[in-house]
Amino acid sequence: MGSTAVLTCTVTLDPAFGIAPVDPRLFGSFVEHMGRCVYGGVFEPGHAEADTDGLRADVLKLVRELGITVARYPGGNFVSGYRWEDGVGPVADRPRRLDLAWRSVETNAFGLNEFMTWAQRAAVEPMMAVNLGTRGIQEACDLLEYANHPGGTYWSDLRRSHGVADPYGIKLWCLGNEMDGPWQVGHKSADAYGALAAETAKAMRQVDPSIKLVACGSSNDRMPTFGAWEATVLDHTFDHVDYISLHAYFEKHEDDRASFLASGLAMDRFIDGVVATADHVAAKKRSRKKLQLSFDEWNIWYESRFAGYTNLEWAEAPRLIEDEYTVEDAVVVGSLLMSLLRHADRVGVACLAQLVNIIAPIRAESDRPAWRQTIFHPFALTARYARGTVLRAEPRTPSYDTARHGDVPVADVVATHDPETGQLTVLALNRSETEPVNLTAQLRALPGLRVVEHVVLGGDSAELLHTNNAEDPDRVQPRTSTEHTLTDGELTAALPPVSWTMLRLAPTA
Ligand code: AHR
Repeated sequence: MGSTAVLTCTVTLDPAFGIAPVDPRLFGSFVEHMGRCVYGGVFEPGHAEADTDGLRADVLKLVRELGITVARYPGGNFVSGYRWEDGVGPVADRPRRLDLAWRSVETNAFGLNEFMTWAQRAAVEPMMAVNLGTRGIQEACDLLEYANHPGGTYWSDLRRSHGVADPYGIKLWCLGNEMDGPWQVGHKSADAYGALAAETAKAMRQVDPSIKLVACGSSNDRMPTFGAWEATVLDHTFDHVDYISLHAYFEKHEDDRASFLASGLAMDRFIDGVVATADHVAAKKRSRKKLQLSFDEWNIWYESRFAGYTNLEWAEAPRLIEDEYTVEDAVVVGSLLMSLLRHADRVGVACLAQLVNIIAPIRAESDRPAWRQTIFHPFALTARYARGTVLRAEPRTPSYDTARHGDVPVADVVATHDPETGQLTVLALNRSETEPVNLTAQLRALPGLRVVEHVVLGGDSAELLHTNNAEDPDRVQPRTSTEHTLTDGELTAALPPVSWTMLRLAPTA
């Protein structure tokens, strides 16, 4: 990038050109039995803020503020060795088990019914995963019968005997987790998994035809089987599932901030690749179905700092991957949400992984109230205000070269327009490490708006590595900016270097 030229980004936003309505399920998250996400996170009997069910009220308050709509449960790698029956019924009778995925001791004090109580209090939709690692069709159907069948059968009556008279009616179900990964307990070939997933899907739909099913795609797009895995799995499952999953974790490698700031492009490419594969299978099958994508694990994870699955000591709720996020991480999380929104026509579910303590927007300790990590802020703002329809945006802006992603546009813009309220939300990213970008958005097709909110994360090079932590939990917060104009249908705003911006406009009258 040149250091003296003024950087610009121009874009035209017109409600006549929309990509798709924003599915509220894009703002999901993930609660896994891993480390301190459940135990010491959402659930901590004895904590000063715990209610009579052991659910932490301070965590619940932040979960509601974060605005998540969906919570995926109970894993993750954990689910591939999980016996769901261990987690229901009288707590005193529940077995302690080895969790092979995380070399942890699982007490089973928290299970399906505790999770559903939590989900109801958090006002989030549950998304359940079934174990297709060590188990199969029967156990998946038993769980679905326990959860969703009204009564008069063994499993539904067992639920009723556990004090839950009404069926939960859980709609979203994942057919296993990351079954392409050799680390997965019960890892399978694409053919073996595809065949099992198709038969499980058919049987589960016999139990409850109203459910939506997610087949496992690749664990990330660096997997050697990426592309081929999706094609084979969908050859088996295409007619029986509603979604194919994607997982991706990003991190800054060797201080290469330029590439890190372009993580959204990698997410775009990953999504485009899976869409292409799903549409290839549709073409082969002469099907008009546009299969939806479930990006049910995404975030920043400094995986290179993780000692690895096999180097862990057996322990109850050990401290695992409690990454502390910086301002620049928050800027990247904001940009990843922009990538998801840009694909609103195909991505129908997305889950920020995870929710509490484990690579999470919310942190919790036993001796103090829970707090917001830096990445909490772009998520909460996007979840609250990026509603309505995503507008087609073609930003024109210079590009720069990166080691990992080649040529990358210096700025990015995504906008949503809510026809009900008339509100326009503009999300913008400046990837330049040194220069501001002058954003100009033509809004002539959206007359009568005024800027009601302009907030920025980042923009000060001295603060990019600041974090929120137990000692200083509110150090990083979005700051309000007045550096914008709106005249004759033209919105201008200054985007500071390395920043994520949200401009919210509402009708004047
Ligand atoms: O979120 C942490 C782990 O990352 C999940 O258990 C697994 O699905 C993924 O590899």
